[in-house]
Amino acid sequence: MKRDLISMLDVKDDLEKIIDLAIELKEKSKNGESIDLLKGKTLGMIFEKSSTRTRVSFEVGMTKLGGHAIFLSKNDIQLGRGETIEDTALVLSRYCDLIMYRAMSNDAMKELAKYATVPVISGLDDKEHPCQVITDLMTIKENKGKLQGLNLVYIGDGGNNMAHSYLLGCAIAGMNVKIVAPKEYWPDEYYVKESEEFGVKVEVTDLVGASTTNADVVATDTWVSMGDEMKKEKRIRDFQGYKVDKDLMSLAKSDSIFLHCLPAYYGYEVTKEVAHGKQSVIFDEAENRMWAQIAIMVTLCK
Ligand code: CP
Ligand code: NVA
Repeated sequence: MKRDLISMLDVKDDLEKIIDLAIELKEKSKNGESIDLLKGKTLGMIFEKSSTRTRVSFEVGMTKLGGHAIFLSKNDIQLGRGETIEDTALVLSRYCDLIMYRAMSNDAMKELAKYATVPVISGLDDKEHPCQVITDLMTIKENKGKLQGLNLVYIGDGGNNMAHSYLLGCAIAGMNVKIVAPKEYWPDEYYVKESEEFGVKVEVTDLVGASTTNADVVATDTWVSMGDEMKKEKRIRDFQGYKVDKDLMSLAKSDSIFLHCLPAYYGYEVTKEVAHGKQSVIFDEAENRMWAQIAIMVTLCK
């Protein structure tokens, strides 16, 4: 049976194993040891949205594993001219050992995963961004030595893919998670309910004031995700007051870290002072995309 990664719930039984494998393979590779565990394997990467990190980290990661990655922009393949997702999935499965998909919608993601006969990895859709949150948890573990019992506070668009995957990912890892967002941008109820099943403290609030008190990790993401551009001006108005700045960071624990999946828009969801400040680990986080995905690909190919 093939195994996909399109929701954080797909790794609920081995999340920490994947994170530990990522940390192990990162160290091995940095020590000059070969990690060519997927020699001769091919990853097909379909992109319906822009990307810097996802594209490059998957491609370089696959090279490090001894395999090969193919970049497939939707507009350059027949999918963009009306070929069905079903046929695209069936055909790519005949060539590729793995498929990475950055999709406009979670429905399209599920459709591709349904028909592909090889593992499908989400490179983000409108509901979740699991590779990014596995990466973020890896980055937290590298910095804190553990995950269980830590407090993550996410401030900004509570209804986007990052917020949903943080809810599930933190809960699976045994971390308490707080989403701070204007009411109109609260997470889908489904993700709150699912995360509560793991017995951690899950909180959703619109009160920014002292929200970062006692936080080990403060995180944010853009106020205008890909696909939300039409409502950019309204969103910027609605999110005033939900910016991560040095005052909010100063309320968090003194050894707290700041995360952002990037791309960042300085002066909106976060100040550049915080994002490039001493508590920020955003560029380690960006690098870790590659190591986390290496571990994910190795795990799904087993
Ligand atoms: N964080 C992230 O997924 O970045 P890209 O959109 O550049 O891939
Ligand atoms: N929430 C953002 C993440 C970008 C990596 C988006 O979907 O555009």
